[in-house]
Amino acid sequence: MKKKVQITETVLRDANQSLMATRLPYSDYADILSTMDKAGYYSVECWGGATFDSCLRYLGEDPWERLRNIRKNMPNTRLQMLLRGQNLLGYKHYHDDVVEKFVELSIKNGIDVIRIFDALNDFRNIKTALEATKKYANKRTVASGCISYTQSPVHTVAKYVEMCKELKNMGFDTICLKDMAGTMSPNEAEGLIKGIKDAIGEMPIILHTHCTTGMAYMTLTKAIESGVDVIDTATSCFSNGTSQAATETMFYALQQYGIDTGLNEEVINKVNDYFKPIKQKYIDSGLISPKSMATDSQALVYKVPGGMLSNMIANLKDMNAMDKFDEALLEIPNVRKDLGYPPLVTPLSQMVGNQAVTNVLMGERYKQISKEVKNYFKGEYGIAPGEVSKELETKILGEGGKPTDCRAEDSKRTGEEFKKAKEALGDLCRSEEDMMSYICFPDQAEKFFKDRLAKEENIATYTITEA
Ligand code: CO
Repeated sequence: MKKKVQITETVLRDANQSLMATRLPYSDYADILSTMDKAGYYSVECWGGATFDSCLRYLGEDPWERLRNIRKNMPNTRLQMLLRGQNLLGYKHYHDDVVEKFVELSIKNGIDVIRIFDALNDFRNIKTALEATKKYANKRTVASGCISYTQSPVHTVAKYVEMCKELKNMGFDTICLKDMAGTMSPNEAEGLIKGIKDAIGEMPIILHTHCTTGMAYMTLTKAIESGVDVIDTATSCFSNGTSQAATETMFYALQQYGIDTGLNEEVINKVNDYFKPIKQKYIDSGLISPKSMATDSQALVYKVPGGMLSNMIANLKDMNAMDKFDEALLEIPNVRKDLGYPPLVTPLSQMVGNQAVTNVLMGERYKQISKEVKNYFKGEYGIAPGEVSKELETKILGEGGKPTDCRAEDSKRTGEEFKKAKEALGDLCRSEEDMMSYICFPDQAEKFFKDRLAKEENIATYTITEA
């Protein structure tokens, strides 16, 4: 067994996102950051994912200012973000110049580790973000290539090993396996990590999983036995359920094996003590629901992630068609096969689920095809992992129709998006960071900038009156 395994703490990003819809404001954790800085984590995941959108949309916070504040209070710890490749933090493909500027500003404002993924594992979609990371890298910068993990007949160990080789050749510094649905079993982890380690040697491998189905601790233990280098965990009061495995628990178990995590026990316990009343506050307010804290093994039975299942039930209830539930559930694997086995992660999980429901309700398969499924076949999301249904492809693209090259659109470097943002915002835009917030989330950003101005004017009026 390895002598050293490092820990990424996720409480500020994924645990926050998984348990409480990313509504944790900076003010709740500002006071613990300097303590967290002494914990000895490999990194603290604190930005990207849904945090950016949530700052602007719900919390009235400038996401860039949040990042700078974390940086200031945690000068010694690697700060980590999650980036959806060419989609940045949203769902559309941005132009290359936008992706490059976003990465440049992320590093400039304090990010060290950029974990870059694409929902379909189409690595054309993460290449620009990687190149930008390398271009603007400082001594601490780490470009982490991330694979969306799923199970299907085309997702074999050999296929994952190929993906890892490709990420290594592209120039990534580390590789992360991202099991967003928490469906990776201990047995699968063992086969995968051993296979990957044999193929790519010394390059660090990271495992990111969730406790959703109850397997995470077993899976992490097997992964560590098999040679994984870094695991993602959350401080224990923000662990389990749909979140990550508990930091202190893994620390305790690994210590008995003589595995050095580099963590300071006293500090990680202090971190947990700090977050306990914060968690209680959000349980009391209803933001953290008992459902998100429980183990849900349905994903193992139905081979469908928990979130996708509850989404489908809600849709069927809306249409008064819960009697079609079993039929719709059986239709999901068929639709997924026709689409060439995409990983069931946003936005593909919704796409597959909705089409399965439509097929069942219409009483005929693909009598009605959603806009999203059509765009998927047109190639707008990237290349499907496996063969798509030729029949359905012809139905959507016409005889001999071929998917478009998604790079043709997003490879642009015209400066057009920057110009549009500056024109729309005028004086409201005070920095490149403001401009980027607007490009990513125009409505939310503009509202935030207006509120910011109004707040300042109020303060100015108040100060004059006082004087
Ligand atoms: Co996650």
